[in-house]
Amino acid sequence: AADMGNDLEKVLIPEDELQAKIKELAGRIDEDYAGKDLLLVGVLKGAVMVMADLARALHVPVQMDWMAVSSYGAGTKSSGVVRVLKDLDTDIMGRHVLIVEDIIDSGLTLHWLLENLKSRNPASLEICTALRKPDAVKVPIDVKYVGYDIPNEFVIGYGLDYAERYRNLPFIGTLAPHVYK
Ligand code: PRP
Ligand code: MN
Ligand code: MG
Repeated sequence: AADMGNDLEKVLIPEDELQAKIKELAGRIDEDYAGKDLLLVGVLKGAVMVMADLARALHVPVQMDWMAVSSYGAGTKSSGVVRVLKDLDTDIMGRHVLIVEDIIDSGLTLHWLLENLKSRNPASLEICTALRKPDAVKVPIDVKYVGYDIPNEFVIGYGLDYAERYRNLPFIGTLAPHVYK
C-alpha cells in the first residue's frame, strides 16, 4: 500500500479486523436476502473498497451499480451540497437495493440519496456502511448494516480520502494534523 511518510497519525482499524467485519456483515446480508436478487449500489468514489470486498464475500446473487455523488469537495468539511456526477445505469423499480458506503459522517449524502432512490420505487432499500460517526450526525439515518462506529476524527484509507489521496490504504487511519493544517 501507499507510503505515507509521517502523514499517518495512527491506525484506527487494522486490515485484518476490517476484513473480518466485512465478512460478518456479508453473512448477515446473505441471511436477510436469501432467495432474493440483490442490487448493490456503491457510492463513488469512497465505496469502491467496501463494494469490492463485500460483493466477493456474499453468496446471494448480486448485481452492482454505481452512483457518483460528492459532498466534500477537496477539503475536510462536509458542505451539505450534494452533486450528482453519475447516475445509476439500472432501473431500480421493484428491485431489492442495498446502498454501499464507506462512511456516514453528517448523514447529508445518504439523506439525499435515500430520498432520491425511494422516489424510484425499489422493492426494498437498505444501507450498508463500513463506518459511521455518531458524534458528527446532522441528519439521523436508519442504517441496517454498520461496520464500526468511530470517533469524530478525520479518517482515511479503505476508500476514504483526504484531497483524493490515501484511498488505497488497506486499513483505516487518522491523518496527522500537519497534513491538513
Ligand atoms: C464522503 C464519504 C461519504 C460522504 C459522507 O464522500 O465517502 O460518501 O462523504 O459524508 P456525509 O455523511 O457528511 O454526507 P465524498 O463526498 O468525500 O466523496 P468521495 O466518496 O468521492 O470521497
Ligand atoms: Mn463518498
Ligand atoms: Mg471524499
